[in-house]
This record gives sequence, C-alpha cells and structure tokens, in this order.
Amino acid sequence: MTYLMGIPWTSFTQAASRMNMYTPRRQDVLDFLLSRRSHPSITLSEPGPSENDLDTVLTAAARVPDHGKLAPWRFIIYRGEARQRIGDRLLSFAEEKEGPFEAQRREQELTRFTRAPVVVGVVSRAAVHPKIPVWEQQLSAGAACMNLINAAGAAGFAAQWLTEWYSFDPDASRFLGCGDEERFAGFVHIGTPTQPPTERARPVLSDIRVDWSEA
Ligand SMILES: Cc1cc2nc3c(=O)[nH]c(=O)nc-3n(C[C@H](O)[C@H](O)[C@H](O)COP(=O)(O)O)c2cc1C
Repeated sequence: MTYLMGIPWTSFTQAASRMNMYTPRRQDVLDFLLSRRSHPSITLSEPGPSENDLDTVLTAAARVPDHGKLAPWRFIIYRGEARQRIGDRLLSFAEEKEGPFEAQRREQELTRFTRAPVVVGVVSRAAVHPKIPVWEQQLSAGAACMNLINAAGAAGFAAQWLTEWYSFDPDASRFLGCGDEERFAGFVHIGTPTQPPTERARPVLSDIRVDWSEA
C-alpha cells in the first residue's frame, strides 16, 4: 500500500473519482464541438498557422485512438510557393487523362493547393497486420483528420477536409508524396476565414440513434 502523509493513496484516488476530477465537464469544448463547421477552402486566406501552431495541431491530430499503437498515418505539409508548382503538375496530370481544358477548369486545377495558406495531406499507411484489421487503421486515419480540423479550429483557424480526384489517382498521389502502399485519407486545408460559414442541415438525432433491443 502506498501512503501520502499517512493516508492511503487509494483514499485520494477514490475521493478524486467521486469529485470527477479526471473528466470535469468542459462546457467550452462542448460548445465548440456543437457549433463547429468546415469553411470552404476558397474562403480561407492568410495567415495560416505558424510553425508552432502547426506543431500543436499536428500533435493533437496524432493523439487519436490507434489500436496496436501502429501510428497508421502520417502528415505531409504543403505551403509556400510549392503549392503553385503542385497546381501546374495537377493540371498536366488531369489534362493527360481528360484532354485539354478550357480556362475555368485549368484555373481550378492550378489553384487546388493555393486556396488555403497551409494544406496538410493525411496519409493512411494501413497495412495487413496479424492482429489489427486494416479497417481499424483506416478509421484511425479518419480520426486524425477530424482531430486536425478541430485542433485547427481551437487554435483560431478554419479548415476543410477534401479528398478530390488526386487522392484516388495513383500518379498524382505519388507526386504528392504518397508511397505505393499508402493512400491519402484527405487534404486538410487550413487558414483564416474571410467570411462566416453558412450553416447546413444536420441529421435529426432521432433518425440516427436507437436504443438496442433484441430483435
Ligand atoms: C473524407 C471526406 C472527403 C471529402 N472530400 C471532399 C471533396 O473532395 N470535395 C468537397 O467539396 N467536399 C469534400 N468533403 C466534404 C467537406 O469536408 C465539407 O466541407 C464538409 O462535409 C462540411 O461539413 P462540416 O461543416 O460538418 O464540417 C469531404 C468530406 C470527407 C469526410
């Protein structure tokens, strides 16, 4: 038995548990989650997160449930001038496959990575494992994306999770840094919002929840 000032340590932990010291209600966090929403990437502008902020939000993104502690995800950062070069290359990949584009579609491809100041590619590196299903590893990558969005919001930025065609195109994915056994869970665009987001319809809770009962 461990004692502190002559009192058994378990007495402290039991008292703390009764007072719920381990998980106090965080109304600010609940309010944040209940009002959060994505901001379209085209409405995001400078400034993006500083190096420090980026480290913080990525650390939060990596703090997700991860069965087997495999870290089945990693992050690729796209920022600065490189984003224009990415647009040039995405345009050529897309035109090679779909033929020459008119001005509007050209512009769309050229600006894919310049809409927000910082884009984080979340790479799923789920792989066959003797104990941990690939599905669980992929879910963990999705959780990392969501933590990243929420952490960016908590740090004072807005974000949007996009996949778009290049997440599903092997050549473009490889160009964007994905390995042969990896795939993008998405690209989280992060920046400062230029306008308030409009609300969108949400599922009615009673349509999507049920108390289980045996059929
Ligand atoms: C995995 C995933 C991929 C997405 N990819 C795209 C996309 O390529 N293009 C798009 O317009 N929206 C895409 N979205 C939807 C945007 O993230 C959208 O802004 C979001 O669903 C808005 O909901 P929210 O306000 O609750 O965050 C994607 C969403 C998810 C979860």
